[in-house]
Amino acid sequence: MKILVINGPNLNMLGIREPAHYGRETYPDLVKKIQKHCTAKGIEVTFFQSNHEGALVDEIQKAYGVMDGIVINPGAYTHTSVAILDAVKAVSIPTVEVHISKVEEREDFRQISYVRLACVKTITGHGTDGYLEAVDFLVEGK
Ligand code: DQA
Repeated sequence: MKILVINGPNLNMLGIREPAHYGRETYPDLVKKIQKHCTAKGIEVTFFQSNHEGALVDEIQKAYGVMDGIVINPGAYTHTSVAILDAVKAVSIPTVEVHISKVEEREDFRQISYVRLACVKTITGHGTDGYLEAVDFLVEGK
């Protein structure tokens, strides 16, 4: 099984940005944690992070016919990007939306998620463990 983990804007700043919302783990820490989890389960995992909407769309398109599942945290593009929604719809690869923070308890503008419309599951507020839960959902369906 091949899984692509995509992180959007400012997630490369994990560990520095707003620790009250996002914790102290860095982006390299996150990658290491997911890699370890996937290796233990025999899953092939690929990582991609970008601050640019089009680059995220390109990476989702590249996954077509290659990846079996996508874990995506589109960061702020969650709340604005029809292009990312359309890309996930286009490839029709099972996709899980992850947010480190509990977005539903935050500002009004974070209450809209476009990508969610194309996702099989959404996980919020579980910190970086949410990514591991997303992988497990894609593999085990729960
Ligand atoms: C986030 C929540 C978004 O609202 C925010 O813009 C992010 C991170 C999260 O992981 O909680 O960049 O997706």
